[in-house]
Amino acid sequence: MQNPKTIAVLTGGGDAPGMNAAVRAVVRSAHALGMRAVGVKRAYEGLARGLMQDIGARDVGGILQRGGTVLQTARFAEFARPEVQREALRQLNARGVEALVAIGGDGTMRGAAALEALGFPAVGIPASIDNDVYGTDMAIGVDTALNTILDAIDKLRDTAASHQRAFIIETMGRKCGHLALMSGIISGAEMTLIPEQEASAEEVAAAVRGAYERGKTHAIIVVAEGAKLHASALKQQLDRMNTGFGSRVTILGHVQRGGSPSAWDRLLAARLGIAAVERLAKGERGVMVGLRATTVTGTSLQEVGSRRRDADLEYYRMARMLAK
Ligand code: F6P
Repeated sequence: MQNPKTIAVLTGGGDAPGMNAAVRAVVRSAHALGMRAVGVKRAYEGLARGLMQDIGARDVGGILQRGGTVLQTARFAEFARPEVQREALRQLNARGVEALVAIGGDGTMRGAAALEALGFPAVGIPASIDNDVYGTDMAIGVDTALNTILDAIDKLRDTAASHQRAFIIETMGRKCGHLALMSGIISGAEMTLIPEQEASAEEVAAAVRGAYERGKTHAIIVVAEGAKLHASALKQQLDRMNTGFGSRVTILGHVQRGGSPSAWDRLLAARLGIAAVERLAKGERGVMVGLRATTVTGTSLQEVGSRRRDADLEYYRMARMLAK
């Protein structure tokens, strides 16, 4: 591939803190390398409808610290249809765009892989609070979401301890338990339920009762939204099993997706944004840039789109050990 002179950038899937920092990094590094940058509004839906316009260096000023995405996003299942993909290509070609940087989760990577399969150069940047994107240890937004969850759990612990209650706290994450598992460890939860490692209500009750008998003033149970045993069903069962604590449920919901990105997420966004553009400039394509250990790497978009990153069960063992 010849070096692209014009690249487009979009943000897809659920918004994640740090998406704006990544857009800024893509736009500014494209300009630094002498390319023109085009912003696509509302992800693949906007691509198919031609919602694109040039973005200059000044247009991305003041967005680094903002949550959400200034390019907006959309869930757009229709992009799986070949005729919709062809229409998106027509729109890109009509504006002289020669390559795409797609920022988002696994669905966004599948969209980029589909365009690549049609011969259009695409590079992906992982951004999703779920941390379920294959090919990177961390996606942009995960660290900020974890800090938000931690802040909420610290506050819930205050009221839990005052009332001698067990709090069941549901986190996001779709089918991946990463957010729940990490928050369980860093907040000192008695028990964590994730899709990758199921636990029964009896096991949870035993852990909560044990905490009560050891003189703890409260219990924290973190439940991933994708866990088989849902937070409300767990509450009903715990209340029947008499653990010593009364119980309450808090569903953290979309608050986990908002807020100003953490230092870690801003740095990751800068590194991956620059890496994506530099790789395109060198003629590389069809990869998602990601972080493995401390190094920026590339993984084929095909592979990223067809695999899922699960929670690391070593952390499950650690969480149980620290809950004593
Ligand atoms: O993928 C991010 C995520 O927040 C998931 O954790 C959650 O299951 C889903 O998006 C919610 O999607 P929506 O905002 O479309 O309801």
